Amino acid sequence: MTIPTVRTIVALRGIVAGWRQEGLKIAVVPTMGALHDGHLSLVRAALEKADRVIVTIFVNPKQFNNQDDLAAYPRTEHEDAAKLMPLGVHLLYAPNMAEMYPENFATTVSVGGVSEGLCGAFRPGHFAGVATVVTKLFLQTGADIACFGEKDFQQLHVVRRLARDLDIPIEIVACPTVREVDGLALSSRNRRLSAAERRTAPKLAEILLATAERLLPGAPPEHVLTEAKAAILAAGYREVEYLELRSDGDLSPLAAVDRPARLIVAAWLGQTRVIDNVKLAPTGNK
Ligand code: PAF
Repeated sequence: MTIPTVRTIVALRGIVAGWRQEGLKIAVVPTMGALHDGHLSLVRAALEKADRVIVTIFVNPKQFNNQDDLAAYPRTEHEDAAKLMPLGVHLLYAPNMAEMYPENFATTVSVGGVSEGLCGAFRPGHFAGVATVVTKLFLQTGADIACFGEKDFQQLHVVRRLARDLDIPIEIVACPTVREVDGLALSSRNRRLSAAERRTAPKLAEILLATAERLLPGAPPEHVLTEAKAAILAAGYREVEYLELRSDGDLSPLAAVDRPARLIVAAWLGQTRVIDNVKLAPTGNK
């Protein structure tokens, strides 16, 4: 048995039209493949919320600001399909480049505000690439629900914003970050870490949690964040792109944890960029 797979918009829409006639609720889980347990948790959430689940696999060149990163991105469709099969996913949509971006493709979806700063400051064009492909995937699948991981927290905000601003009738479901037993957030890029880097990697999550504890009583973040950046470097990371305290609800910068907040980080471990975030809920807030 293999998972039903379509590669064209026409074939996808034919199947979705049949489901619609039956009155079924449809969820989509957009991915770039190289699936790990974090993706599978999104799929499980989708299966709980909808009658039919489409997983998409498309390595989207428009969101890579670094061509080496794009070339090195793992492409493992066969293994991915084998992981999805036992979960009961109903359809795999894996379009090729010409189907997604035909000749003379000229449209970009650019989301202001939440795309700026954080990863947006270090990866020019990244969120426009994400927003463009996600908008296309929403329109191609016509899904009622889409599941995204909180690990890519800024991306989650970008996707929510574009769905609202463009009146796309889709519910965005946020799913918690899945971690290795030692705390490292799962990511398709973790497979690039050397054995020594893999031992160092979880220190980022450790420092994030310890920093969150220090910020929770409402301490001004400046000094605490400076110390935390130094701790990340001392742990073996070679560069901290950013470590910031932001509002959980709208990503605006915070000067204290006076509402639900996120501590968000991006740092380089050798040649691998690692991102992570933790939620901080001040007493009385969830
Ligand atoms: O999170 C990802 O894997 C990608 O950014 C997404 C949402 C599938 C768009 O290419």
